[in-house]
Amino acid sequence: MKKIGRRQFLGGALAATGAFAVIPARSSKAAGSRIDILLGEPIGTISPNIYGHFVEHLGAVVYDGIWVGEKSPVPNIDGIRRSLVEAMKKIKAPAIRYPGGCFADSYDWRDGVGDRANRPRRTNFWYGAAGKDVPLDSTTRIEPNQFGTNEFMHFCRLTGSKPYMAANLRGLPAQRFYEWLDYCNSPAGTTTLGELRASGPLGSKEPFRVEYWGIGNESWGCGGELTPEEYAQEFRRFTAAYPGYDTPVKFIGAGASSDDPNWTRGFFSKMREKSEDIFSRRVYGWGIHHYSWNVAGGRTNDWNDAKGDALDFNPEQYYELLSEANKIDRFIAQHWLIMGEYDRRHSTKIFVDEWGSWHKPGTQLKPTHLLGQQNTMRDALVASVSLDIFNRNAEKVAMADIAQLVNCLQSLFLADGDKFITTPTYHVFDMFTPHMGANAVRAVFSSSNVSYDRNGKPASIFGLNGSASVSGKDVTLTVTNTHLSEANEAEITIRSGRIASAKARVLSTTDVHAHNTFDQPNAVVPHDEPAKAAGDMVAFRFPPASVTQLRITLQ
Ligand code: AHR
Repeated sequence: MKKIGRRQFLGGALAATGAFAVIPARSSKAAGSRIDILLGEPIGTISPNIYGHFVEHLGAVVYDGIWVGEKSPVPNIDGIRRSLVEAMKKIKAPAIRYPGGCFADSYDWRDGVGDRANRPRRTNFWYGAAGKDVPLDSTTRIEPNQFGTNEFMHFCRLTGSKPYMAANLRGLPAQRFYEWLDYCNSPAGTTTLGELRASGPLGSKEPFRVEYWGIGNESWGCGGELTPEEYAQEFRRFTAAYPGYDTPVKFIGAGASSDDPNWTRGFFSKMREKSEDIFSRRVYGWGIHHYSWNVAGGRTNDWNDAKGDALDFNPEQYYELLSEANKIDRFIAQHWLIMGEYDRRHSTKIFVDEWGSWHKPGTQLKPTHLLGQQNTMRDALVASVSLDIFNRNAEKVAMADIAQLVNCLQSLFLADGDKFITTPTYHVFDMFTPHMGANAVRAVFSSSNVSYDRNGKPASIFGLNGSASVSGKDVTLTVTNTHLSEANEAEITIRSGRIASAKARVLSTTDVHAHNTFDQPNAVVPHDEPAKAAGDMVAFRFPPASVTQLRITLQ
């Protein structure tokens, strides 16, 4: 089989048409673990946008994940799936990145505005990635443009989310980008494009006031195969002049994949040649993408072969996926260090604007659900490990967007016609909402690592880890216990604080393969548990392979 990397996979998208084998993890669990929450050591305010989402015109994300159409029997609000809107409101979805992904760099926003009956049908970027059982005229291959800027903005308004638009850098001139800003943000009754915005379906006289604008996507790969220096030049050209109106426009650069330091260094050094203040003036964010996909334990790094099944995985693959997710901590530190060499005041913040688990195909609901996959308790742990890392890096990470919202990769939702469920990952987002906008404080986890067998050699991952934040008298601690089979007993101490009460909410299952289905939508849901509190201490037993939210009220 031909060995390929992620770049080749994406580049070819358009052209190309139970039970464990028991290898128990060796426990190095000591008598007990400790978690010290240091109220006096603030990290920074946790941007609510860390809990952001990503929507791409890919497979069944937009059609029918979000857009079912006004005449659909599926309950909807102006064509948008009602149950999705309600669930997103519950988790206070703060921001949504749109319309891609790789799709963004072959998308002309003008195709998706004005009278829906007159909108053109176009070849979707992902046309060739669909299998032969996907009809040639399916929305997975052919973009019908029934959902465009106004529909997306309506979705944002309904869910209370901020839009984060990705501009087409590879395929359109800078002028089209300038005009998209005009279309979205020009004041009522001023420009012709503003009038088009108001007169189209779901139109709005009031400007959309879109603040976040990504300049291209993965410009090192599907977004143009540029060098970082070429990209810096394009970025400057695209952002040199724009109609700002009264919206504080913020530009985000298409950053590196996982740990690629050359892309970050090349961009920042080339930008710095112009001036140092270019970062504070023009580069609000630097987007990093990190997917957890390689569970091969070092046997191969091939993009296809190294992935595992979403449902059928062994203990080694379980621990490997969590280790992959955990790497983003180091990658954030590495990119931040390089960024600071050129942008010494750290004006530019990190946007992890694509992250999540990426399993091999086979568990998607149907062939049209390109990159669709099931979502188990293991994926919930990928979410908690990642979100805790973003919280712990609150001073560096301004936004993060899980890929992708519905029916694609690590989704919070699965939908098919009138069927709709939340996944275990959704429940993690729900449990983490108290962190949004709270102040992250340092928490020291003293807990033994968990050892496991990695292709015949010993490997290990942390036993307990998490993040803590404070808002007034409320302290929120979220904790992941990675151990597959053993609970972890811990004493949690609040330094310089007296506890009035504590309670816990836990997401855990007897089998880490557990997942929700249309027949069993509540197989994985969190439950409340009491937590023993006395003085400045809480004692809690974290179940195996679990995510816990502890809410502690101070006196
Ligand atoms: O999320 C799927 C794809 O992964 C996106 O389109 C691309 O940006 C990334 O490589």
